[in-house]
Formats: sequence, C-alpha cells, structure tokens
Amino acid sequence: MTPNLIIRALTPDEWPIFKKLRLESLADSPSAFSASPESLVDQPDSYWFDRLDTADKTFVAFMGKTPVGMASIYTKSNPKISHIAEAWGVYVSPKYRGQKIGKELLQTIIAEASSRSQFKKIRLGVTSSQSQAFGLYKSLGFVQVGCYKNEIRVGDKYFDEILMEKSLE
Ligand SMILES: CC(C)(COP(=O)(O)OP(=O)(O)OC[C@H]1O[C@@H](n2cnc3c(N)ncnc32)[C@H](O)[C@@H]1OP(=O)(O)O)[C@@H](O)C(=O)NCCC(=O)NCCS
Repeated sequence: MTPNLIIRALTPDEWPIFKKLRLESLADSPSAFSASPESLVDQPDSYWFDRLDTADKTFVAFMGKTPVGMASIYTKSNPKISHIAEAWGVYVSPKYRGQKIGKELLQTIIAEASSRSQFKKIRLGVTSSQSQAFGLYKSLGFVQVGCYKNEIRVGDKYFDEILMEKSLE
C-alpha cells in the first residue's frame, strides 16, 4: 500500500468529510457523475448524515490525516437483485492521482463485497470521457457488458455511460 495511506469506512458522524469529497468530485469531474454540485450544495446536514447511516459503506482514503479519495458501495434491498453490489462515487483528488490510491479504493470495495456471501457480482457505470477510470476498472477484472448512449449531458455535450461488472464467484 502507498506509504501513509489509510483506507477506512466513514461513520455517519464523519459526514463533513463525505460532503467535502463528494462536492469536490462533482465540481472537478462534471462528466464523470450524473449528480451536480448545485443539486447537493444546499442539502441539510441530515442529508449527508443519512447517506452514511445505512448498511452501505463509503470508504475514504486518507493520506496522513488528509482525505484524498473515496469510493462507495451500494446494496439493493429488493431480494431479486440483492446479490448485486454497486460501486459508485469513485474519486481521487487530482493532486493525489497516479499513486494507486484509486486502485486501493476499488480493491477495498471488491474485498468488502466479496466478504458478504450474498453478493455474486459487483457492477458500476463509467462515462466514456473517463479513460483512467475505465482503465482502472478493466485492470481489476471488470468487463464491459453494455453501454447507454448519450446518457450524461454536460452543457451541450453528451457522453455515453459504459456499464461494467465483475463476477465475485
Ligand atoms: C479514476 C480515478 C479514481 C483513478 O484514481 P488514481 O488514484 O489516479 O488511479 P491509480 O493510480 O490507482 O491507477 C490505477 C490503474 O488505473 C489505470 N489507469 C490509470 N491512469 C490511466 C490512464 N490514463 N489510462 C488508462 N488506464 C489508466 C491503470 O490500470 C492503473 O494501474 P497501473 O498503473 O498499474 O497500470 C481518478 O483518475 C479520478 O478520480 N478521476 C476523476 C473521477 C472519475 O473519473 N471517477 C470515476 C467515476 S466512474
């Protein structure tokens, strides 16, 4: 692991860290995410607390004490699809990229999903503009299973969303 790097799940009381990283990610990489900072910036504190107060987990990478990246796992309660784990919100602050922090975060998400026997696969969506993210997921065994054309609109530009999954069996 990268020296001084600690990855751990946030507790609900740590919502300010989640809020800061999430808003930073949406502002930094608008085409990577369907949410936008404007739609979240005025949410009450309880919104951020509640997002962490679930069975799902948000992992944050800390370099020393500084939060530098995040990745969340989302699980579905509907029994017919409760074998699917979903990764979302994957982000590393620009200054810290290229040091395998994204890879460590994804490996943490995969390990978390693998540790729960209910999960048979993990899936995610990645916008066609995010070649680093696509390369990262591919390097960890995710395969492309489909594509939504023109799924994300930023200004007058449209981006496809590539659908990827990895079997946990
Ligand atoms: C995607 C992101 C999280 C990667 O974080 P990172 O810490 O820089 O990535 P890493 O250093 O762990 O790179 C790991 C792997 O990603 C792949 N990768 C990295 N840069 C790449 C590039 N330019 N092209 C293709 N693959 C690349 C490689 O497989 C690399 O492993 P390797 O160096 O052993 O070959 C980061 O670039 C980011 O936050 N981007 C903006 C937001 C985003 O796109 N999020 C994804 C939403 S789905």
